[in-house]
Amino acid sequence: MSEVLELEHIQSGVLRPRPTPYAATYVVLRIDDQVAGRDLMRRATSAVASAAHPDSPKGDMWVSIALTFAGLKALGVPPASLDSFPPEFQHGMASRAHVLGDAADSAPEHWEKPLGSPDCHIIFTAIAPDAQRLEQELARIRTAYEKFPGITALWRQDCYTLPTEKEHFGYKDGISHPAVEGSGVPGSNPREQPFKAGEFILGYRDELGGLPPMPQPDVLGRNGTYVVFRKLHERVAAFRQYLRANSDDASQEELLAAKMMGRWRSGTPLALSPENDDPSLGADASRNNDFSYQDDPLGFKTPPCSHIRRTNPRDAAIAGVMRLHRMLRRGTAYGPPLPEGVLEYDDADRGIMFAFVGSQIKRQFEFVQSEWINDGVFIGASHEKDPVSSSNDGSGVFTIPRRPVRRRMQGLAAFVVTRGGEYCFMPSLPALHWLADLKI
Ligand code: HEM
Repeated sequence: MSEVLELEHIQSGVLRPRPTPYAATYVVLRIDDQVAGRDLMRRATSAVASAAHPDSPKGDMWVSIALTFAGLKALGVPPASLDSFPPEFQHGMASRAHVLGDAADSAPEHWEKPLGSPDCHIIFTAIAPDAQRLEQELARIRTAYEKFPGITALWRQDCYTLPTEKEHFGYKDGISHPAVEGSGVPGSNPREQPFKAGEFILGYRDELGGLPPMPQPDVLGRNGTYVVFRKLHERVAAFRQYLRANSDDASQEELLAAKMMGRWRSGTPLALSPENDDPSLGADASRNNDFSYQDDPLGFKTPPCSHIRRTNPRDAAIAGVMRLHRMLRRGTAYGPPLPEGVLEYDDADRGIMFAFVGSQIKRQFEFVQSEWINDGVFIGASHEKDPVSSSNDGSGVFTIPRRPVRRRMQGLAAFVVTRGGEYCFMPSLPALHWLADLKI
C-alpha cells in the first residue's frame, strides 16, 4: 500500500513537471547576513506553492527555493544538524568532479563563477508558461531581495522553450518520467510500476523498504529532497559535424542521431519504430513512452549504449538494480538556437539547465552519471560512454548492433561541457519556517 504523502508540506516544484512551453529563471543568491537570510526564508514561505495546491499563489508562475550546504551554514544551522547531511552534499558538486567525470573543459576551474564556489548559498527557481508572465513576477520579487542589504544576487540563467520546442541538438525532450506513489502525478511509462515516495522525498519508505537517511531534526529533513543543478553547454556545431562526417546523406544522419539517443529527434522511440521516424507517434504522449527492451536484448533496435537505454535500462538485462537509480528530471533550454543547417562554430552559449530531484544524490544522480553515462561495465562495454552527454575526449567509441556486422563509430568528442552546478537541499515548507526561526 502506498504511504500518504504530506503534500501540503512539499514544495510544488518537486513533483510538478514543468509546463510546455515554458520560461524559467535560476538565480543564485549569497547570504551576507544571517538575519536577512532568515527573513528571506520567511518571505519564501508565502511565495512557494505546496504540492497539495500546485497552482502557485501567483497564478501561473511558481517558485522553488533550494540551499547549498554553504547556504545552510550561512543561515546558522547548528553543527549537529549540518553533520547529519550526507558527505557528498556537504562537499558539494565541484569537489565530486573526479566522480562525475568533470575534467578538461568541464573541470570546476573553468566553471562560470560563482558556481561551485562557497559563495553559492541559495538557488531560486521561477518558472511560468511564458516570458511575459515570468518577467512581471520577477520584477516584483527582485525589488524584494534587491533592497535586502544582507542578500546579494550573484548569477542568473534565463531559459526559454526554443521555437522548435526541442533541445539544442534537435531532440524532443521532457518525455520520460517515473510515477511517484501517492503524489497524484502520473508517470509517462504505463509499463513502469510507480516508485516508492522515499526515492524522491525524505521521510518515506524507498524501494529497499527502509527510510533513506534524513537530515536532523525531523522538521528540517522530512518532506524535503535534494536537487542537483547542472548547467550543460551543448556543442551543437560539433555534434552536427560528427553526424555529417559519418553519414552519406540526410536520412543516414537522422538514423545515426536516433541510434545515439535511442529516439528519433521527433521523440519517436526506436523500440517502437526502428526503421523510420513516425512523428505522430513521437508527439503522442499516450504511446511515446510505452515500450520495453525485452524483445531487443542485443540492441538491434535501440543500441545498449544509446543515451536513453543507458540512463534508464528499463527491463534490459544489466548488472545492478535498475529501480534504485531513477530521478525526477527537469531540463530547460538556454541560449539562442544555432540556425538549422549551420555547421560552423559560433561563440554563443547554449545548452540545458538541468535539475535532477531525488532523495539520495550518491545512488541516484552520481551513480547514473559515473556508472551509466561515463562507464559501460554494466552492459559489458567498459570502453564505451554515452555518445551524447558523456565526458568523451575525441577518442570515444559507440557500437550500433546491426546484421550482418555491427557498426562501430569512432572519434566521439565531448559534445556536452559542464559549465557549473550545485548540490542543493530543497526544504519542506515547515522546514523553511524552522530555518526562518533559528535563533542567533
Ligand atoms: C546536454 C545533455 C543532455 C541531453 C541533450 C539530453 C537529452 C535527452 C533526451 C532528448 C531524452 C529523451 C526524451 C525524454 O525522455 O525526455 C533524454 C532522456 C533522459 N535523460 Fe538525458 N540528456 C542530457 C543529459 C542527461 C544527463 C546528464 C542525465 C543524467 C545524469 C540524463 C538522464 C536522462 C534520463 C534518465 C532520461 C530518460 C530515459 C528514459 O526513461 O527512457 N540526461 N535525455
